[in-house]
Amino acid sequence: MSIEPIISPSILSADFRYLEAQIRACEEGGADAIHIDVMDGRFVPLITFGQVVVKACKQITTLPLDCHLMVVEPEKQLEAFAKAGANIITVHWETCPHIHRTLQTIRSLGLNAGVTFNPATPVDGLAYLADVVDLVLIMSVNPGFGGQAFIPSSLPKIQKTAALLKKIGSQAIIQVDGGIDAATARSVYDAGARNMVAGTAVFKHPEGIKAGIQALRERLK
Ligand code: DX5
Ligand code: ZN
Repeated sequence: MSIEPIISPSILSADFRYLEAQIRACEEGGADAIHIDVMDGRFVPLITFGQVVVKACKQITTLPLDCHLMVVEPEKQLEAFAKAGANIITVHWETCPHIHRTLQTIRSLGLNAGVTFNPATPVDGLAYLADVVDLVLIMSVNPGFGGQAFIPSSLPKIQKTAALLKKIGSQAIIQVDGGIDAATARSVYDAGARNMVAGTAVFKHPEGIKAGIQALRERLK
């Protein structure tokens, strides 16, 4: 895997009073995408935001919008997220009884299709998704909240995922989400992840958003 590391700040940790300015700071800091955590109060405890916020983000930035759907029955929402301006839609393995079809649908809308696995969900089923998946998100915390500690068993899981993708001839990129900071970013990169999602480490960095992104970038050189 020679691909350069991708840094995707998660606006879950943004100060929503200043969303436009904070997304601009992400751009100036060299972010590669904006990660949007959609929560429904059912699959995960909290409710965050949906298509209208994606649409607003689209008016602010040209960076790809990476929508992480922590919702039940995500298939009912795909078209509306595509219309709102999503570029990547990632759905949870745990919410999709027909995951192959759901990923096909995301691609048919012209978007990149992602599948994500909770920390205790095995990744073996990926073997059957080679023809429909662009991104595999390994959750390194239990989804639902920003600011949680990185779960160490995520590292061998990323290695296993990288080996499995290679075996099935998939070019899908491995994304990691939860507890990523300057201390953990390097180890997930070394394990095979190439797309780092970071909320707290970017938006709550003591020296500001740009410094947060640059600190991650520095660790990934
Ligand atoms: C958790 C979300 C993450 C979250 C990461 O359910 O999917 O994207 O924002 O936050 P940090 O980087 O603070 O762990
Ligand atoms: Zn996320």
